[in-house]
Amino acid sequence: MRTPTRRTVLGAAFAAAGTGLLAACSSDSMNGDSMNGMDHSAAVPSAPSAPAGFVAPNGPEVAAAPAGFVAPNGPEVAAAEAGRKPGPERKVALTATETTLDLGGRTVRSWAYGDRLPGQEVRATVGDTLALTLANHLPQPTSLHWHGLALRNDMDGVPGLTQEAVRAGASFDYRFALSRPGTYWFHPHSGVQQDRGLYAPLIVEDPKEPLRYDREWVVVLDDWVDGVDGSSPDAVLAELARGMGGMGHSGHTMPGMSGMSGMPDASSAGASGPSRMLMGATSPLLGGDAGDVAHPFHLVNGRLPGAPETFTAKPGDRIRIRLINAGGDTAYRVALGGHELTVTHTDGFPVEPATTQALLLGMGERYDVLVTAQDGVFPLTALAEGKNAGALAVLRTGGGAAPDASTRPAELDGRLLTAARLKADRSVRLPARAPDRTVLLELTGGMAKADWAFNGRKYDPAQRHPVAAGERVRLEFRNTTAMWHPVHLHGHTFALGADGPRKDTAVVLPGTTLTVDFDADNPGLWMVHCHNVYHSETGMMTVLGYQA
Ligand code: C2O
Ligand code: CU
Repeated sequence: MRTPTRRTVLGAAFAAAGTGLLAACSSDSMNGDSMNGMDHSAAVPSAPSAPAGFVAPNGPEVAAAPAGFVAPNGPEVAAAEAGRKPGPERKVALTATETTLDLGGRTVRSWAYGDRLPGQEVRATVGDTLALTLANHLPQPTSLHWHGLALRNDMDGVPGLTQEAVRAGASFDYRFALSRPGTYWFHPHSGVQQDRGLYAPLIVEDPKEPLRYDREWVVVLDDWVDGVDGSSPDAVLAELARGMGGMGHSGHTMPGMSGMSGMPDASSAGASGPSRMLMGATSPLLGGDAGDVAHPFHLVNGRLPGAPETFTAKPGDRIRIRLINAGGDTAYRVALGGHELTVTHTDGFPVEPATTQALLLGMGERYDVLVTAQDGVFPLTALAEGKNAGALAVLRTGGGAAPDASTRPAELDGRLLTAARLKADRSVRLPARAPDRTVLLELTGGMAKADWAFNGRKYDPAQRHPVAAGERVRLEFRNTTAMWHPVHLHGHTFALGADGPRKDTAVVLPGTTLTVDFDADNPGLWMVHCHNVYHSETGMMTVLGYQA
């Protein structure tokens, strides 16, 4: 068997997708915007079997992806979507574009949704059908993944698995039912684009919202490198991919790197900036090594700590804060000076309310908290855990000087609540049941060789860990690496232990095993990966496939 090239990989995915999609598109319309206007809600005839190799419209003959699995646009997926009873359309237009962003005293050239950072949040109500058209004005292909949503598989936004990448200049219609309320977000699933400015919150409101609060504050945390002194996430990835032996920029990419999704040619990458490899950053909370990348900036809602966002409220207001970590390589420890936090949700799902002074968010994780605003001016600080840097926003309910950029509220070193100590709200507790199947995923590799993987095997879009609809599935994440990893499952929300919280992203500390259970109730091909974008892109990703 020959080594797959990028083209064979994309082609293989479409072989896997079955003939329904292929039959619906003429061969020269397979490049992204052709999918506009397709009726995604219609059941597509089932592919009897994946073709043994079809000729991609713009590429060579490809090997077939494994047969015997549900296709992302297959009838099982359409049936699951129909079960969500898609309601009225919520129409949104989104443009991914190169732009100049003002981070507060510093402007950078980057890629973002529109001209803002974070992108304009999308807000909808449970039962709505989100109808979002993505226009790709970027110089590269892109995609949109809806982090945390149990949505129809062909809208999950994974190029080479659930759709073809949306090419430069093209557009794509994402259209799917929103079946649960909560705090979610979206970002590309293409290379390391997520570590540019391409991210935004997705808030799904509950018309029967049980929480009472006066105001709501969406707080998005991010580590930033793009456009700073010639750096880009692609250059950072190229530097990391050379491994620790390659520190100090040879200016060459590793052989084979150009086959990775989203990797530009060395010739088109332009300046690559100073070294951003991070060595020796440690955190007891993270069990050792804190991260691989020395992002020069840390942002709350797109702002540097010297020019923070100020959220205004009245003393006594109950404020719901929705925290989202959109970073590429940074866990944030978060506290609000002078306040306790009452945690009400994690990853969109309710928990039994629990108070804490500080929270730790791995990349991709969300926490909703309630606070009762005190009188004055208070720092909301997000410490880049183990990296000796931080980000800031300000809550103002009265007079007083704004907090200094380097303020470190005492609460940061106070009580810290981890997900393992939370309990799911009864309404979302997974009923007790023995697992029908256990999938062992050993987290392997390291920074020295940049060989991050599951079970020692780099990501291969043709790989399938089989699961069957209706099963209770256990995922066992055994971390034998020297580093922590925020592991993320697409399309489902797993439970941490018998009465533990429901989550889609969870931190696995080095030398530990995290066991999570979920019900296989959303057919398709679903990614499991580390949400460190540099780990996933070097290989720590794999695919769960529902058997047909
Ligand atoms: Cu937010 Cu596959 O990720
Ligand atoms: Cu990782």
